[in-house]
Amino acid sequence: MRNLRTRHISILLAAICSTAVVSAAEPDYAKAALDMMKADFKAKGPATMERMVQQDEAQAQCSANPQGLTAKQAKKLEQSQLATVKYPADAQYMGDWKNGEKIAQNGRGMQSSDAVGSVNGGNCYACHQMSKTEISFGNIGPSLYQYGKLRGTSPEILKYTWGKLYNAQAYNACSKMPRFGHNGVLTEAQLKDVMALLLDGESPVNK
Ligand code: HEC
Repeated sequence: MRNLRTRHISILLAAICSTAVVSAAEPDYAKAALDMMKADFKAKGPATMERMVQQDEAQAQCSANPQGLTAKQAKKLEQSQLATVKYPADAQYMGDWKNGEKIAQNGRGMQSSDAVGSVNGGNCYACHQMSKTEISFGNIGPSLYQYGKLRGTSPEILKYTWGKLYNAQAYNACSKMPRFGHNGVLTEAQLKDVMALLLDGESPVNK
């Protein structure tokens, strides 16, 4: 018993000592990575330096807390992000689903090889299943197949879906989904077309 306890203590001491040694020598990896990006990344076309090295308040808070925010922090951040959402002035939420499908399929835009001012895509399929006809899709996000069929088009659903597309962090503080409206990735007209893709009964999402 005594032997066992002695062994435990020495293991504990060894652990404390090695932690202390490692943390004294531990480089600041976050700073090193940022310095490297600043030194090596060259702004070109629509891919600018600001987008790479300047985080807004929401990004900074999420980066500083990789293990997640507390419930209180998350609620506060979601409220501030929700306040950024601009709803369509004409209260028309739905555009053309056929164009919405093209936007969902399009992964171009804001890259160094794109022309400044070229039309951006939403790249939705990179993260979501959306229709049965498109078999190439990513799964970082949940399947959106039958989104409109399952949820309907009540004013609440229209408002929630618009808000989610406009600023995903309004409903999930550190969401991995791009903030399409907030960051000017998609225009209001494009957002309406994507809304129709999700919610129109004729869209392949709801077949
Ligand atoms: C980089 C990955 C990524 C891209 C690109 C992306 N999303 Fe998402 N999306 C997510 C993730 C992850 C979630 C789930 C977590 C969350 O809610 O933030 C999500 C959630 C959603 C939700 C909420 C689903 C629900 O059950 O309420 C909708 C709607 C949505 N995405 C639509 C879209 C549309 C439309 C596009 C394209 C314009 C798109 N997403 C592009 C990652 C992405």
